[in-house]
Amino acid sequence: MKILELKQLSYDYVTKVGKVHALKEASAVFETGVIYAIVGRSGSGKSTLMSLIAGLDVPKDGDVFYRGESLRGLDRDKFRREHIGMIFQSYYLLPQLTAVENVELSLELAKYKGDKRARAEKMLSLVGIKKEQFRKRSTQFSGGEQQRIAVARAIAADPEIILADEPTGNLDNENSMNIVGILTDLAHKYAKCVIVITHAAEVAEKADSVLKMDDGVLKMK
Ligand SMILES: Nc1ncnc2c1ncn2[C@@H]1O[C@H](COP(=O)(O)OP(=O)(O)OP(=O)(O)O)[C@@H](O)[C@H]1O
Ligand SMILES: [Mg+2]
Repeated sequence: MKILELKQLSYDYVTKVGKVHALKEASAVFETGVIYAIVGRSGSGKSTLMSLIAGLDVPKDGDVFYRGESLRGLDRDKFRREHIGMIFQSYYLLPQLTAVENVELSLELAKYKGDKRARAEKMLSLVGIKKEQFRKRSTQFSGGEQQRIAVARAIAADPEIILADEPTGNLDNENSMNIVGILTDLAHKYAKCVIVITHAAEVAEKADSVLKMDDGVLKMK
């Protein structure tokens, strides 16, 4: 099912030395149940595209549609809280909190109505963190484990769209494949729309569909 549509998105950064045309009329359709990879060289506009999809920024021209509705007409912070889960290359876990508290905090922010502790534990189990580890501080986990906790955090409030910007950038091959396996399951078993920005060919290979960003222009590969 179509969940996101990008229509002719353009975005410029204004700098002291002039404008950077980061996105040039990027159009695409994203569906639930599908994992997408976005590839392209450094500086081609991938992260910019992701921030427009997440409603962190507003396009100069064009529009993002969520279930047919323009983001321009929505409360973008609410939209992001309710429908988007984000994962980054750096895990950004709060070091003073335990694994389960990190996930619970995101549920708090998302104004999750149910039992937050139970939900957080369920999500940690889903990404393969063992029960006896739940109360360990996040800094005491390996990089691969920290990224799995970050995935648990991103999916805790059950968003339909998962945006991951270089989620395996700091991981070795085994941990990368583990994360990609989880992301693929989220698309195929849980019917999420998963969009993964990646430089890694072995990650892109696992996606159902690959898009290429080339100097601000988005193309099907
Ligand atoms: N805050 C900013 N201010 C000015 N220019 C920016 C800013 N952020 C990005 N750019 C420029 O916009 C273009 C697209 O950047 P973007 O970060 O989207 O690329 P990317 O494809 O994500 O690159 P990478 O693979 O290195 O993460 C680049 O030319 C970059 O230098
Ligand atoms: Mg980037």
